[in-house]
Amino acid sequence: MNISFVLNGQAVALDAAPDQRAVDLLRGLGALRPDGADANDAPGVCAVKDVKDVKEGCGTGECGACSILVDGVHKLSCLLLAAQLHGREITTASGLGSKAAPHPIQQAFAEHGAVQCGFCSPGMSIAAAALLAENPQPTRDEVRRALSGNLCRCTGYVMIVDAVQAAADAMRCDSSMLHDAPPTLRDTAQASRKAPQAAPNKARKKAGRP
Ligand code: FES
Ligand code: FES
Repeated sequence: MNISFVLNGQAVALDAAPDQRAVDLLRGLGALRPDGADANDAPGVCAVKDVKDVKEGCGTGECGACSILVDGVHKLSCLLLAAQLHGREITTASGLGSKAAPHPIQQAFAEHGAVQCGFCSPGMSIAAAALLAENPQPTRDEVRRALSGNLCRCTGYVMIVDAVQAAADAMRCDSSMLHDAPPTLRDTAQASRKAPQAAPNKARKKAGRP
């Protein structure tokens, strides 16, 4: 089936199998040509940049490594079908910022020692971005609750919470950043003001459903 969506600001149109998971589609994009053929047939011709920053840990909605924003809402791509991306705006960690121009969350993770192996970091930064778009000044408990669906096996959580709070401080200090932020983040803030807030544990279980 043909699907199209916007990935980190870039339009993508391709053919997806009806039972293909979103995480598999996103992680395989770098190997696709615009016509969907394997890139090995024409090396160097790629439809979009690789999005290997979307990780797969558990594959069952428990670890948060596969976190993405779908129209600004935190979702688990291992629980989504590729078809559910159709018509949506998708943001992955590489859409938040880059090594050369990191998002304040990514910068704070680096500065606060919140990254060791880095496997959880893209998903953590996506969860944190969703939180800060909704709540620019979260308490430590609110950060812990928002990240409760994202597991880290090596850093521990104290420095991660420190980093999210530091990013929140930095983003509040630079109010112009909200005006310059990608539409996804502004949309998240607007959507969250309209939408009723689910209890954190329920929200986590719901993540990944359309
Ligand atoms: S891979 Fe663990 S929640 Fe998706
Ligand atoms: S930094 Fe290694 S899993 Fe979190």
